[in-house]
Amino acid sequence: MKVAIGSDHAGVELRKEIISLIEELGMEVEDVGCECDTSVDYPDYAIPVAEKVANGEADRGILICGTGIGMSIAANKVKGIRCALVHDLFSAKATRQHNDSNVLAMGERVIGPGLALEIAKVWLTTEYEGGRHGRRVDKISQYEGQ
Ligand code: RB5
Repeated sequence: MKVAIGSDHAGVELRKEIISLIEELGMEVEDVGCECDTSVDYPDYAIPVAEKVANGEADRGILICGTGIGMSIAANKVKGIRCALVHDLFSAKATRQHNDSNVLAMGERVIGPGLALEIAKVWLTTEYEGGRHGRRVDKISQYEGQ
């Protein structure tokens, strides 16, 4: 599995830790940045990561900013993206099983690195259940015109 990852200036440290986790899990990672000491704009990283997932260059995406909110809003504007903003383990598992989320957003200013890494691991390794959830996900795709 290939995972595209990006952050703004508020998510750099957590992004680096998640890159190490992805590699430890034996997955491929594509890091789109930022390499920033100064302030940058989260859509400049959210949209490229989301587009890589939407066009099949990557299987999944992970986005980190201060809250995760800006990243999730921006990523969900890209057709085909189901970005979940997650700060707990129950939701990390449920959003994979029920929503088939293909991008994960988290806020480095919201949770500590220990929990964030556990969330990323659960999210990366949990399968979509399909079944009744497929009908619901399909309705989102139909609304998007896919
Ligand atoms: C940057 O200060 C902050 O606004 C950004 O990281 C994010 O939290 C936006 O949603």
